[in-house]
Amino acid sequence: MGLEKFIIEGGHRLKGEVTASGSKNAALPILAATILAEGPCSIGNVPRLRDVDFLARILQTLGVSVERDAMGRLNTKVVSEDASLAPYELVSMMRASFCVLGPLLAKRGYAKVSLPGGCAFGDRPVDLHLKGLRALGADIKIEHGYVIATAKRLRGANIYLGGSMGSSVLGTGNVMMAAVLAEGQTVIEHAACEPEVVDLANFLISMGASIEGAGSHRIRIRGVRRLEGCHYEVIPDRIEAATLLMAGAITKGEVIVKNVDPTHLEAVFDKFKEAEISFTRNCKVVAAGMEGRPKEVEIATLPYPGFPTDLQAQMMALMCFGMGASVFMDGIYPDRLNHVAELKRMGAKVLRVNNTCVIIGTDKLQGAPVMASDLRAGAALVLAALAAEGETEVRRIYHIDRGYDNFEGKLRSLGAVIKRMPDESPEKPPSV
Ligand code: EPU
Repeated sequence: MGLEKFIIEGGHRLKGEVTASGSKNAALPILAATILAEGPCSIGNVPRLRDVDFLARILQTLGVSVERDAMGRLNTKVVSEDASLAPYELVSMMRASFCVLGPLLAKRGYAKVSLPGGCAFGDRPVDLHLKGLRALGADIKIEHGYVIATAKRLRGANIYLGGSMGSSVLGTGNVMMAAVLAEGQTVIEHAACEPEVVDLANFLISMGASIEGAGSHRIRIRGVRRLEGCHYEVIPDRIEAATLLMAGAITKGEVIVKNVDPTHLEAVFDKFKEAEISFTRNCKVVAAGMEGRPKEVEIATLPYPGFPTDLQAQMMALMCFGMGASVFMDGIYPDRLNHVAELKRMGAKVLRVNNTCVIIGTDKLQGAPVMASDLRAGAALVLAALAAEGETEVRRIYHIDRGYDNFEGKLRSLGAVIKRMPDESPEKPPSV
């Protein structure tokens, strides 16, 4: 399939109700965990995304059949345990696929998984994943860009999993997926507390694992001999839900998002309050809208329950319309600022020093051709375009398709004027 772009006509207030899809970042490690199951798994509320399709392809190469049924559930079954190799061509496309390492090692005693490499917003190391698996007794070598891990049976251990940037979401998941089949007890200290880690733990518990404390910094796991298949529902996507709420706010409309757990969005609501963006929240429905311009805010992204790095770009798009000067600092990915240059093309006033940006609010942005460089940067450009004067062309939208289920369909149902078109413009050679 060729490249595609969005053409967005700005200036339409979004109004109405949409339903959030299941969480991408919960669904991906849960799918990886199906490697551990003796029987079939049936997983509901899995979003329809390129990243999910992609992980399904990797699982198939590892002997796991993955099929979506008529109800939209993903049904998985391990049909062969012969292949334990996840090649570079696949892992380098999607970091989350590194999550097959823990389950392969625990279940099959051997895994050869490519190191994922960096991504559009910088170096993304996996030292914590490897530290945790080594502590469980795995023999780990790095050869020719591959992690080769072996263990007869892993042994429970006390593992401190904090790094220089705090906890690791997928690192905690990888180690947890290995420890569930280890002999004896594992305690992960400085575990990530994200709702997606809790969801993975709940999935493993449904398979028969013994896990306590997920959602806190200390997770205690008692190893079991085998895990069964199970029936499970993935939690709603808090990042998608907040992105849609911000689409309501930036267009001065009013958007209601259903199928959300509002307790997952406390840090976002806190900033909405500070910015005087009006919102209501009740069980599983949240709404946000805005009359005038938001007040300025200061945002430092932090691990959960702090403000998520995965919403930094979208919130920045919103604060381009702030009354005063807002300050953004990404404490998790200091280089996750590729959207800044593109927002500036639309007339945003942004001063950047290292990982800190000051956004001087303005009352208008102008449509322009812009380029998505990663998933959340792409979403931010779409939000900016919805509120800008005139037409915006957002290129490289395959990034957005990785993580937003039917994004333009949902926006269109709220009144956005957005079209998906083939992108025939020539690929730009890198500027020098
Ligand atoms: N880090 C290390 N060593 C490691 C692992 C991470 O130093 O071994 C550092 C990272 O460089 C970063 C920080 O720790 O500075 C946190 O990274 P983390 O490991 O938590 O990120 P991740 O697990 O690889 C997940 C999400 C990301 C999200 C981050 C942070 C998935 C599939 N990905 O990545 O989601 O930004 O947690 O919340 O769950 C997205 O959805 O757009 C996305 C990038």
